[in-house]
Amino acid sequence: MLSGKRILLIIGGGIAAYKSLDLIRRLKERGALVTPVLTAAGHEFVTPLSVAALAGEKVHSDLFDLTAEAEMGHIQLSRVADLLVVAPATADLMAKMVQGRADDLASTLLLATDTPVLVAPAMNVRMWQHPATQRNLSTLRLDGVSFVGPNDGDMACGEFGPGRMAEPLEIVDAVTRSLGAGPLVGKRVVVTSGPTHEPIDPVRYIANRSSGAQGTAIGAALAALGAEVVFVTGPADVPPPPGVQVVKVKTAREMREAVHAALPADAAVFAAAVADWRVARESRSKIKKIGDGSLPVLTFSENPDILAEVSSLGGDRPELVVGFAAETDDVVAHATAKRDRKGCDWILANDVSPETGIMGGVENAVVLISEAGAETWPRMTKTEVAQRLAARVAQALGSD
Ligand code: C5P
Repeated sequence: MLSGKRILLIIGGGIAAYKSLDLIRRLKERGALVTPVLTAAGHEFVTPLSVAALAGEKVHSDLFDLTAEAEMGHIQLSRVADLLVVAPATADLMAKMVQGRADDLASTLLLATDTPVLVAPAMNVRMWQHPATQRNLSTLRLDGVSFVGPNDGDMACGEFGPGRMAEPLEIVDAVTRSLGAGPLVGKRVVVTSGPTHEPIDPVRYIANRSSGAQGTAIGAALAALGAEVVFVTGPADVPPPPGVQVVKVKTAREMREAVHAALPADAAVFAAAVADWRVARESRSKIKKIGDGSLPVLTFSENPDILAEVSSLGGDRPELVVGFAAETDDVVAHATAKRDRKGCDWILANDVSPETGIMGGVENAVVLISEAGAETWPRMTKTEVAQRLAARVAQALGSD
């Protein structure tokens, strides 16, 4: 997928530098050529020997390395790459980039380059949240630098919060996106995700337990293969994935509008748990408890079925329309009937009965229903389901 692409990888000084060794391996597995550069601080965390052994190339670290100057000057080194990746990027390295300093090889390369730059920050949570670092982040973004992470989590320093370097595979995905190198480059895919909230009155609404985790993983996996993803999401528990165009909605009707506005597209994946009904007349003021024991009566209207509508479109119908079926019994039979009823190409069916732990959990067990029949996938993480689905979408669109 990255075959023949040259990545100049700058490894800064931070405990996350050990993950850069895995990153080199993952990039090489995908056919990339990795030219490693170690900062002086980076030397304290990983050895040039292990970096060179994994990269299969000499490690550069000295600005005034005369042999290298004779063979390939530092300007040249920064320009032959297709992408510069800084992982981990310390607060200090980001600050240097903002100031345009060039007092070591890494900062000089970053200043001299005319190639895109992708930065994976890693630092203590307070350093990341400090206004100075946040200012630097905004400035670098304005300068056209792309970022992946940092992620939330436990940190080596014992604190918790944003600051952990993105995982190597997330960085690989970001590299693929930055290089526009995946099999779905040039393809536009609409993804719906999360629950919808259907208002009862200004303070109450009807919702469901969808976390948005599966839809988010699908958006991420499609974007990682290079697709241009329009990610239409209801109020989900998880943040939207990187590298997609996010459209936030609340109700089914807003979701429908957003989906139609995003068409035409090559494919559409409807992973949202759209409420089937809405309250027929939303009260403009909060419904009061009367206190005489009488109860409010809610009457419902049916929401538009976005999947069925898009499946039956004429010219604007995406080439591939994928729906989900969350069932609690007779999964294959119900999902097969649903595929016929909705007119979509594929249904990814899953058993969401409480004992499976799938709704809101990290794993999923799905059956892919297509014209060819039912194909049962082994139980795997939602990320793996998403990657498998994205690969199948690429295959179906003839772009794998
Ligand atoms: O009919 P049911 O809700 O089980 O269908 C589930 C599939 O249909 C999912 O792919 C969901 O995103 C989609 N759907 C929709 N609009 C609705 C209801 C469901 O797009 N109003």
